[in-house]
Amino acid sequence: MEKIKIIMDVDTGIDDAIAMCLALGNEKIEVLGFTTTYGNRGVDRTTENTLKILELTGKTDIPVAKGATRPIVTPFEEGIKSFIHGVDGIGDIQPPLPAPSIKPLEISAVEFMAQTLRDADRPITLVPVGPLTNVATLIMAHPELLPKIKEVVIMGGSTMQGNRTAVAEANIADDPEAAYIVFKSGLKIKMAGLDATHKGYFTFDEIKELADKNRIAGTIYKMCDVYITHCRDRMKLPGLAMHDSLPVAWLINPDLVKSEDYYVTADINGRHTYGMTVTDVHRTLNEKPNVTVALDVDRLAFIKLIEDAFEALS
Ligand code: RIB
Ligand code: CA
Repeated sequence: MEKIKIIMDVDTGIDDAIAMCLALGNEKIEVLGFTTTYGNRGVDRTTENTLKILELTGKTDIPVAKGATRPIVTPFEEGIKSFIHGVDGIGDIQPPLPAPSIKPLEISAVEFMAQTLRDADRPITLVPVGPLTNVATLIMAHPELLPKIKEVVIMGGSTMQGNRTAVAEANIADDPEAAYIVFKSGLKIKMAGLDATHKGYFTFDEIKELADKNRIAGTIYKMCDVYITHCRDRMKLPGLAMHDSLPVAWLINPDLVKSEDYYVTADINGRHTYGMTVTDVHRTLNEKPNVTVALDVDRLAFIKLIEDAFEALS
């Protein structure tokens, strides 16, 4: 069975770390590399966290290339989001995961993406689960490589609600202009947004069962403390949303996700809607659908994929 070759773009954070484990622990996926971006924390921290998770899983042969430090237009303030993923970005566990002995590549995220796409013998899937700055920069800097991108499966956006503002989801809200460029690119795009990721969760009881399951599950469980507070007490969700794992699970088993094709763009100048993924659900605009939007997920099958990946890596 041919593996699905991906480059995963992460702002490692807690749910990014879980998604990394799913990608690394499932035999259908081959991760060609991780590129990093600011987002949950600054890019130095998200890069270090990505290296720490690779060492935790033993997959230290997979390259990591550091990317964007800030959005295309608006400045980036690292401090505003430490309450979700912790100050260190992966749950502030004690003792912290050991400082990584592996280093990122010398080349930038965009150059790594470009080189990998150029050298690939067949098109590659991009799986960005943070702000889309690196992907938008790749599109602008290397239009000749678009035919080597099989599809872009993002975690981001939503048809209605937001989690950064009333209508904007965090990854899109971090860099709406980048998202606008990606949605306009003509690439095949799948959007795993809040409509589905808020239905793809471990309940607050199920997550406790990870504690003693195996080495990786136990470590991830320890990371989730601060995230439980955010999902339960702030977002009033029924469980811990596994946002970033959904694009990966969608690739592993497309049957897990219910989706529709809609026209989607990112609002880049609205006073109250800046960063919203404007989704033409009722096809009121005379625009051809450009995005496959996830609307629902088979929750139990989804979290089992994650648990199986933890087991495979332990
Ligand atoms: O809205 C959820 C997204 O924002 C996830 O990618 C999470 O890691 C944060 O980046
Ligand atoms: Ca993320």
